[in-house]
Amino acid sequence: MEKEILISKAAIQERVRELAAQISLDYAGKEPILIGILKGSIFFFADLMREISIPTKMDFIRAYSYGSNMHSSGSVHLTKDVELPIQGKPVIIVEDIVDSGLTLAYIKENLERRGVESLRICSLIDKLERREREVSIDYCGFQVKEGFLVGYGLDYNEEYRYLPEIYVLKK
Ligand code: IMP
Ligand code: MG
Repeated sequence: MEKEILISKAAIQERVRELAAQISLDYAGKEPILIGILKGSIFFFADLMREISIPTKMDFIRAYSYGSNMHSSGSVHLTKDVELPIQGKPVIIVEDIVDSGLTLAYIKENLERRGVESLRICSLIDKLERREREVSIDYCGFQVKEGFLVGYGLDYNEEYRYLPEIYVLKK
């Protein structure tokens, strides 16, 4: 498929540094658990965690959302859960992209029910086009109005994840 570059490697790196600096300040004296949502967030997660200057822990969740290749249906379930104890802990969810918001809303409620000390959301991209559930993104990398994005972990049918930049697919 044809694609066009949207966010360069340098722009991603710079923004990741800024987010990491903010998180390091906000959580000074704490040791937050970063929970990455597999698989799309892994490069963002790895880059972010290494730029944060305070101690953190890592864990992962894999969420499966029924629907077509480009649209989630809102029926979400976890195919892999966290392994670290999170009760009473400050948790930051690290997501690649928020689109309808259905996936994150589900995960957020699910983790909150387990009695975390606090829960914030860090998403590389906030895609405003199709928001159905209001989710507040505490740390947002880039706001994008529309389009289907690939690269830097983001896929279309498991393709393009390996690209170091972010592209928009052309229809
Ligand atoms: P939501 O539940 O509609 O917010 O969808 C969130 C999930 O759908 C993300 O975690 C991605 O895995 C996937 N997704 C949504 N938009 C895109 C996109 O533009 N490119 C790649 N994946 C996307
Ligand atoms: Mg995802």
